[in-house]
Amino acid sequence: MAEQKATNITWHSGAITNEDRERLLNQKGIVIWYTGLSGSGKSTLAHAVEEKLFENGNISYVLDGDNIRHGLNKNLGFSPADREENIRRIGEVSNLFADSGVIAMTAFISPYRGDRDKARELVPEGRFIEVYVKVPLDVAESRDPKGLYKKARAGEIKEFTGIDAPYEEPLNAELVIDTSEHSLEASADIVINYLKEKSLIN
Ligand code: ADX
Repeated sequence: MAEQKATNITWHSGAITNEDRERLLNQKGIVIWYTGLSGSGKSTLAHAVEEKLFENGNISYVLDGDNIRHGLNKNLGFSPADREENIRRIGEVSNLFADSGVIAMTAFISPYRGDRDKARELVPEGRFIEVYVKVPLDVAESRDPKGLYKKARAGEIKEFTGIDAPYEEPLNAELVIDTSEHSLEASADIVINYLKEKSLIN
């Protein structure tokens, strides 16, 4: 749990509201939270959706685990406590993006249900879309784009999700997409169609 360390701090709001920004951008600020095993296709899917949103005139931004861990979260590893802090920070950052009117898309394993639920609670109702990028472990392992499953099986990487660290499947994700059954194009369309159905984009 992150402790509140600073005292004597006061929240300050400006005159321009979230609604003002959304009107200017002609879209709703939301968080699309992709979760799933390493190699499930979270980042690939998020970037495919980003392209479709861009073509549709919507501004989005992808926050990706491997990238964020080079900067903002470079001081975090893969223990349960570090993963919790990783997800807590990204929950806060993605909420700020959404408040700015942007469509924030996060691609983190985010293996713990409780951590994902806390990220959801930060965002206004209906503005957090959890997308479970679901593939069987053996499919993710056979893809092994970074050769990490091989290393984990050989004991060279400890606490690897799916091997010797848990992945808690979402129970009520807005969308479940099996990327071993749908093409990338079709998977991205599932997300876009959902956003249109819910009037989150035009
Ligand atoms: S999370 O569990 O804290 O959400 P995150 O998505 O940021 O993880 O980072 C996962 C990425 O880090 C994986 O795709 C993989 O490339 C790399 N990685 C390195 N070590 C591990 C590990 N022990 N478990 C999972 N992923 C790891």
